[in-house]
Amino acid sequence: MDSLREKFSRVYGAGGETEIFFAPGRVCFLGDHLDYNGGTVLTFALPMGVYATVRYRNDGVLRLFSERGGNNVVEHRLGQNVETAWARYPAGVYEYLLGQDRPCEGGMACAGYNVSGADVYYHSTLPIGAGLSSSAALEIVTAFALLYPIYGEQIDKSEIARLCKRVENRFVGVNCGIMDQFSVALGREGHLLILDCSDESYTFSEAGLEGWVWVAMNTNVPRALRESKYNERRAECETALNALREKNPSLRAPAHADKAMLDAAELSPNVRKRAEYVVEEQARVVECIAALKRGDVQTIGRLMNESHAGLQTLYEVTGRHLDALCSAAQKAPGAVGARMTGAGFGGCAIALVAAEAQTEFIRSVGESYLQATGMNADFYVVRPSAGVRRVDE
Ligand code: GLA
Repeated sequence: MDSLREKFSRVYGAGGETEIFFAPGRVCFLGDHLDYNGGTVLTFALPMGVYATVRYRNDGVLRLFSERGGNNVVEHRLGQNVETAWARYPAGVYEYLLGQDRPCEGGMACAGYNVSGADVYYHSTLPIGAGLSSSAALEIVTAFALLYPIYGEQIDKSEIARLCKRVENRFVGVNCGIMDQFSVALGREGHLLILDCSDESYTFSEAGLEGWVWVAMNTNVPRALRESKYNERRAECETALNALREKNPSLRAPAHADKAMLDAAELSPNVRKRAEYVVEEQARVVECIAALKRGDVQTIGRLMNESHAGLQTLYEVTGRHLDALCSAAQKAPGAVGARMTGAGFGGCAIALVAAEAQTEFIRSVGESYLQATGMNADFYVVRPSAGVRRVDE
């Protein structure tokens, strides 16, 4: 196979120095939909992700090529419109790193940098549209690559995570929370990330689950409805917060509420269900953090199963394919737990499985899923991996 540098040269011509950067995808194994509700999420970065091979320029031009983006090089100058959908992510990062008039919270990844343009070649090892955060990986790898000549290894990864979230919210127009960008930027080899989204503080838990493996499972169902339903859930949670605040004016976020508050508030049936999931999931996350410390795999698995049930019946973001996949996975040999991961409505699920049973697990779940849906699932045995970084190849 050609090296990334050879592929780069074929598009942009040979010569000059190139650097290669990598940002992983992520899975969330507990706490989905808690990030924009002020809760805590449990995630890790994946071995698969997005590579950016970069040659810096000094004329302010950003040129972008993606193996999955057709045969065109997209050329972008500051302030120009971006018509190619995928290029809005990296072009937005460039705009926000450089734009003097952009909202800025101070610090490093702020306005007015001496970022001077680049030729970039993107290569992805993440499955397409699978909900493993390929867009966050694309943003973060671009921000890291563009800032690298200025800051080297001193780049503040939390800050680029915040910047990339702003890009996605305001430039691309997707109303995501902070979970994906943080997980992709900060991931640590062999560790699980515990991120409190109410103040963006975080710690790591050593994966320490010897004898167990994480298996990501792809429904291969395209994410129809994902965005509209995602926005609908966000709106419902905002409605819940406003109603809860009538009796609890100091309540900061839905994830900080409790059952008694829900009972005392006037909530429509749907809004009540969404809020109930949020409150219960936050409690599961707290329980899971304690279980991780003890290495209590059975409890972690049970919490994952309960989480899927909540996402299915209360938050209602799963769908037939994710339900079939998780139900098969929960019953399969060696499994302790399985749940959908990410926004839902198709995409991927994640299971925790006894290492010695992984082959049998994959065979059995694949067969049940095919029988139930007529579709083939894909499986990836994954380990918690490092976040964004410079790589040699
Ligand atoms: C998407 C969003 C995240 C998060 C998840 C659900 O991945 O980008 O911010 O809300 O959905 O947990």
